Amino acid sequence: MTIPCITIDGPAGVGKGTVTQRLVQATGWHYLNSGALYRLVGIAAGRAGIAFGDEQALTDLALRLQVRFTLDEQGSRVWLGDDDVSDELITEQTGANASKVAAISALRLALLQRQRDFLQLPGLIAEGRDMGSVVFPNAPLKIFLDATAETRADRRYKQLKNTGSGDSLRAVLTEIRSRDKRDRERSVSPLIPAEDAILIDTTALTVDQVVNRVYGLCDERQLFVTNIGSLNQQ
Ligand code: DC
Repeated sequence: MTIPCITIDGPAGVGKGTVTQRLVQATGWHYLNSGALYRLVGIAAGRAGIAFGDEQALTDLALRLQVRFTLDEQGSRVWLGDDDVSDELITEQTGANASKVAAISALRLALLQRQRDFLQLPGLIAEGRDMGSVVFPNAPLKIFLDATAETRADRRYKQLKNTGSGDSLRAVLTEIRSRDKRDRERSVSPLIPAEDAILIDTTALTVDQVVNRVYGLCDERQLFVTNIGSLNQQ
């Protein structure tokens, strides 16, 4: 039996996480946040004192990475070994480091099977940069979200402000632009839509509008599922 999968790809700050979480809540499907894996490698490298230029050591680290994702009353937590790294995981610095380690082709290969193992019944919603193009090429629905860099910086800035970060809007925009450049221009699995991906420009759309559009596409492809009513109630 084929296990259904929806891939949600797109650049930094486009709202993939928000849209994906809404779909996950509505469907009860499994969730792969592939960016978190690259972020975790970056954090683990920092702790182990491994330089971002040491491709072999970083790849070995990725192969051995001890990761756990948990959910309790406090929300979702991410663990590296026995350390709760949930707060460190979402900083801009961690994102920038993730983008650097993500350019190493052997390291991407080391994480490939780990990502594919998330594909389990009743289905998977996977977010990242290459979910539709490389990791799950047979996914029956592939979405690529995009928005202008200014819009994405503005969204990310508001999100970071809520977490008490002191980053300025200008600093966030600069970081988004440099991450875009690195993610789009790298030679291995660059950020490009899969050929059969549906592109959604979210610049002028609300989260509800994006989620409803994805829901409509799921419906057209008869992909669902239970609890879909809750998509519109959040
Ligand atoms: O989605 P994110 O901001 O958590 O991703 C952090 C970085 O990880 C991103 O700049 C590039 C890299 N990444 C990747 O190369 N491939 C993925 N599937 C997900 C993330």
